[in-house]
Amino acid sequence: MARRRTIHDFAEMARSGQRLVMVTAYDFPTARLCQAAGVDLILVGDSLGMAVYGEPDTLGVTLDDMVRHAAAVARGAPDTFVVADLPFLTYQVSPEQALLSAGRLMQAARVQAVKLEGGRAMAPTIERLVAAGIPVMGHLGLTPQSVHQLGGFRLQARQTEAARTLLADARALEAAGVFAVVLEMVPGEVAAWVTEHLQVPTIGIGAGPGCSGQVLVLHDLLGLYAGRSPRFAKRYAELGQMAEDAVRRYAEEVRSGVFPGPDHTYAADPDVIARLAEEGADA
Ligand code: KIV
Repeated sequence: MARRRTIHDFAEMARSGQRLVMVTAYDFPTARLCQAAGVDLILVGDSLGMAVYGEPDTLGVTLDDMVRHAAAVARGAPDTFVVADLPFLTYQVSPEQALLSAGRLMQAARVQAVKLEGGRAMAPTIERLVAAGIPVMGHLGLTPQSVHQLGGFRLQARQTEAARTLLADARALEAAGVFAVVLEMVPGEVAAWVTEHLQVPTIGIGAGPGCSGQVLVLHDLLGLYAGRSPRFAKRYAELGQMAEDAVRRYAEEVRSGVFPGPDHTYAADPDVIARLAEEGADA
């Protein structure tokens, strides 16, 4: 069994050019399979709201939701570094609010780090968490909790000034003490340029190959959605279709009486059957 990696391992891996592998998981069985597959980090993302609860965005996810799901993931992947998202409005009010929210995730869900969205405005909050001993991952570029301010789930940092702002924000997060930064939906060249100018690893999603690592939403990777996935998300399987076919076969077999057959039915003791027949139903 592999030792659980630490934030120091991630820094060393990035320095030596070893790419970090992160994937989301939201429950015990998927956490188990992610650990068995040997990923470096698991993110209990607030994409939970969309992937598991069918909501249009991440804004409705609560701290209670995150604690329950993150605890299940931590139980399923005890040897893997687990990061949990701080959901919308559980850290933006004040550094103290952030500390209480992050503390709950660390204590009740037993994760190893938290992730929060936002640029330089989040620096004091990150400093507060790091000073309390909580590893923090940043998240820049497309920050889904700001989807309405950004005008949709769209590519960020496309122009020169926006790319410079992205780097300035990333540097502010680094100075505040994050151990890694997620870069979401930014042009590949911009993400590579930001990565080159940081000491801490970057983890890209829709940000090209020039990041220190990659993250994908598990449901995209496994093809669990019926509809189209975002362009940046490669589907490594079509489990949604497989699952639908399996449920359809089950329904057909129940309706036709094929299931449950003898292999899936417990047999009673012959004496019991004989006595029931002899004595009748009203004995
Ligand atoms: O919530 C999430 O899954 C995320 C990833 C998209 C990075 O933040």
